[in-house]
Amino acid sequence: MVKIAPSMLSADFGNLKEEIKDIEAAGADYLHIDVMDGQFVPTISFGPMIYKAIRPYSDLIFDCHLMVENPEKVIDNVVEAGADIITVHYESTNHIHQVIQKIKQHEKLAGVVINPGTPVSEIKSILPDVDMVLVMSVNPGFGGQLFLDSTIDKIKDLANLRSEHGYNYDIEVDGGINAETAKLCVEAGVDILVAGSYIFESEDRKERIESLRV
Ligand code: DX5
Ligand code: ZN
Repeated sequence: MVKIAPSMLSADFGNLKEEIKDIEAAGADYLHIDVMDGQFVPTISFGPMIYKAIRPYSDLIFDCHLMVENPEKVIDNVVEAGADIITVHYESTNHIHQVIQKIKQHEKLAGVVINPGTPVSEIKSILPDVDMVLVMSVNPGFGGQLFLDSTIDKIKDLANLRSEHGYNYDIEVDGGINAETAKLCVEAGVDILVAGSYIFESEDRKERIESLRV
């Protein structure tokens, strides 16, 4: 069944501990953590010190999405704070292969992320080495944006390449996910859905999470 990764970016930051406990009780599989540096994306969100503070209160898998320039510089810090999966943007470094290897040396799961403007063909050479491919279905930087339809063909291409070559990565999608867009992504072959505003805007997070498991 598809896994659900609520994005902490849409949580109430004044009440983070309770928010994370709430989505865990509501059936979330992962906690998606959006680290933004104000350089790679215009926004500054939060860094490892913040999710380190909630790590003791949650058994969720911490899925850390790095939207930072030169991610190689922060990997040690991100691992130390308690990340289980670390994904880095293909567009954020000249050394994607090296960064992926660095994450794996820490015995964490390593993934590559592509922006809406980056085709799947650009990341073909790294696909045998990654545990996850994250397809951005909005331009990164903000929650609450509209899903871009061009994402669906990218998910299908990644699912086909995986079965053709016997690769092992999970396919994750991030941005504008709701019950409707979730269905399209799952039909295309996605394994993990990230959803921020759709889950956190509701009082009934359990209902929202279940509505995504189509
Ligand atoms: C965007 C972030 C997303 C965002 C998703 O830069 O990577 O994880 O929080 O938010 P929604 O689900 O509201 O589009
Ligand atoms: Zn994200």
